[in-house]
Amino acid sequence: MSLFRKKSISAIQEDMASNPEHASLKKVLTVKDLTFLGIAAVIGAGIFSTIGSAAYDGGPGVSLLFVITAITCGFSALCYAEFASRVPASGSAYTYAYTSFGELIAWIIGWSLILEYSIGNIMVAISWSSYFNNLLHGMGVHLPYWLTINYDSASEALAKVNEAIAAGSAVTPAMQEIINGMQNAPLVAGHKLFINMPAFVIVALITALAYIGIQESRKSANAMVIFKLLVIGFVIVMGVQYINTDNWSPFLPNEFTGVLKGVSAVFYAYIGFDAISTTAEECKDPQRDLPRGMIYSLLICTAIYIVIALVLTGMVHYSELKVDDPLAYVFDKLGLKWIGYIISVSAVIATTSVLLVFQLGQPRIWMTMSRDGLLPKKFSKVHPKFKTPSFATIVTGLIVAIPALFLPSSLVTDLTSIGTLFAFIIVCAGVLTLPKLKDNKQKFKMPYVNGKLIVPLMYIGFIFLFKDRFTEAFANFSNMTHEQLFFLIFALLAAVISILTFVKNFSLIPICGVLFCSYLMIEIPPVSWLWFSIWMAAGLLFYFTFSYKNSKLSHVNKQ
Ligand code: ALA
Repeated sequence: MSLFRKKSISAIQEDMASNPEHASLKKVLTVKDLTFLGIAAVIGAGIFSTIGSAAYDGGPGVSLLFVITAITCGFSALCYAEFASRVPASGSAYTYAYTSFGELIAWIIGWSLILEYSIGNIMVAISWSSYFNNLLHGMGVHLPYWLTINYDSASEALAKVNEAIAAGSAVTPAMQEIINGMQNAPLVAGHKLFINMPAFVIVALITALAYIGIQESRKSANAMVIFKLLVIGFVIVMGVQYINTDNWSPFLPNEFTGVLKGVSAVFYAYIGFDAISTTAEECKDPQRDLPRGMIYSLLICTAIYIVIALVLTGMVHYSELKVDDPLAYVFDKLGLKWIGYIISVSAVIATTSVLLVFQLGQPRIWMTMSRDGLLPKKFSKVHPKFKTPSFATIVTGLIVAIPALFLPSSLVTDLTSIGTLFAFIIVCAGVLTLPKLKDNKQKFKMPYVNGKLIVPLMYIGFIFLFKDRFTEAFANFSNMTHEQLFFLIFALLAAVISILTFVKNFSLIPICGVLFCSYLMIEIPPVSWLWFSIWMAAGLLFYFTFSYKNSKLSHVNKQ
């Protein structure tokens, strides 16, 4: 059926060879650059901001979630690596899905990747802005409050202040600033106006950098990564000295259910190693270096995250960590304000590098989709002088910068995680469809371990470990919650996958990738699934009204 028309790997390679736009991209990235780009994309708002609420819900046991998520990302990274070594084109998961499952799924993945790259960057820009404001405050500079925050967050902050005052707490200068800020906000058409101007400005600046060129972006990313790694190393060395092991007990204060509440925050912290696959056409040797870059960056970030989670929950009691700037907070609390200040500087730099990588990645995915005819031609236009996908870069800038002015961050984290997990699942499943290569020239090969017995055994272990959740769901069968329904659907899907693996001898790594990612996905709250479904419906509408007709493959089939 033509909805599932596929693009063969050889066709992609031919396209690239014959495409002057492809040849015009500069091929400068090495394995070191790619590892740095990976770290640049991964370490950012997650570890500097969202880890706070995950640690609050899960207690010190959140470090286990960092391990589980790292394993999940590890399976997915190996699958990405396998694809990257076979299909060195800029479309990342989108291109991989085109070769394995055909056009419709490829489109769906391309559309989900917008959640990962553009919507995810809205959150990063908001986090950047909040750390940037901390820095300005430290220097005695106070921007008007209404220019630094969106309306929802301002109202939430005011509600918290009112609550504290009602509970008898004295009004601090920070609280007074929020009260005055609400009073002094300008009125536009009868509504108080609040916009996050720093978030908008940083996205505009990063877009300009991405527009000018990959060389400049690479140099900036490398410098930012070195700086953030140095600061994180410093934080760890200083923090270890203040660990009070009493804070680690109980390790799971809200049991494992509490830990699982942090799934989307923790997963969000890992997102990014996959983004380097979008620079495939700018690598010196993508087939060899991309797999290595992804795996090295994931390993480095995993080690850092696990240590940070332990240090953070060891320094103060987990119940204090529900703040937006947990790393700076724990040092401020110990009276080490100067370290808190260094952390804020580093957070600004770290989130800047994340912004840069995703602002680079999104236009490159669109460029590939446009070359395939699924998006308008303008998206694949390469700037004659700067050699970057110029139009797509500007559009990315706009769709990140404008919502960053108005949206609250909580809305976007879950949506980003759900979209990315979905893309990971398709990439892992896609690996199962790849033909075995006869020659031995492949520069990276994912190890094949037969899942025949291991996967069904894992499933039995899963039933045993989660027997209480099964009992609860069945006891509540006619009236079950969405979470219970999702859990049972997952259990059913996992059973089918285990049987198929037994029968077809599927490879263990991609199957584990599919199962682990699906499990993390069902832990994301139902309301985000609703938004995800609306997003997907809009994507399908676009596909059927534009992309299906304009697809290059549709012309090929007609000839
Ligand atoms: N992993 C990236 C971050 O935490 C998206 O900012």
